[in-house]
Amino acid sequence: MTPKHGAFICIEGIDGSGKTTQARLLVKTLIKKGHEATFTSEPSEGAYGKIIRNRILLENERVPTVVEAVLFAVDRLDHIEHEIKPLLEGGKIVVCDRYVYSSIAYQGTSEVSPAWIEEINKHAIKPNLALYIDISPEITIKRIKRRKTVMETLQTQRKVRKLYLSLVKEEKLILVDGDASIKEVAETIERKVLKFLKHS
Ligand code: ADP
Ligand code: TYD
Repeated sequence: MTPKHGAFICIEGIDGSGKTTQARLLVKTLIKKGHEATFTSEPSEGAYGKIIRNRILLENERVPTVVEAVLFAVDRLDHIEHEIKPLLEGGKIVVCDRYVYSSIAYQGTSEVSPAWIEEINKHAIKPNLALYIDISPEITIKRIKRRKTVMETLQTQRKVRKLYLSLVKEEKLILVDGDASIKEVAETIERKVLKFLKHS
């Protein structure tokens, strides 16, 4: 049964954890079951997302973390205004590959606190369901055959996973075991999402 109102579902995880694969599979499954569902991702396809993907992530060195945090927050607000909000208002289920939790996990440091990142993202719509695919960086680094972005180092991925796990502990993210086949992970996600939709 398609909900009358839209639903906003986020999928999070370290690089190579299977987010894009799973978000796309989830959209397919939801459509098969009669829902109106759409895939989207961050960094977005908009002007700010393009700057992030084509410049910031392809540099040899990371720009200051505070600069990253602000840029991702600006891209997010633009993404929400031009894409996410209109889809939700049209009653669609929006499946988003990365969201605010990525900013907390990747940009959160002792100087750039998760609380401040939440503050600059306070105008971002709260997701109805936020899933986190957990897998060790030692496994994903083998999946990522060639380093594509400045974030894809074992050291960064380890730190990012730690922050994701603290968000799970705070019950801001729901953990999905990512150390299984694509089909098994998809089934777990499908179960959690269908259960959520049934009760919403
Ligand atoms: P992300 O969006 O998190 O970076 P992707 O979905 O792009 O991850 O997957 C990264 C790579 O790992 C792809 O080649 C994909 O086919 C592969 N992959 C995804 N999930 C699994 C899995 N559960 N087991 C093995 N390989 C996987
Ligand atoms: P993405 O294209 O999803 O990379 P992958 O498919 O390898 O997971 O995201 C690009 C990079 O941007 C990724 O390394 C995580 C980073 N990122 C942040 O650092 N902060 C953010 O707020 C977001 C949305 C992404």
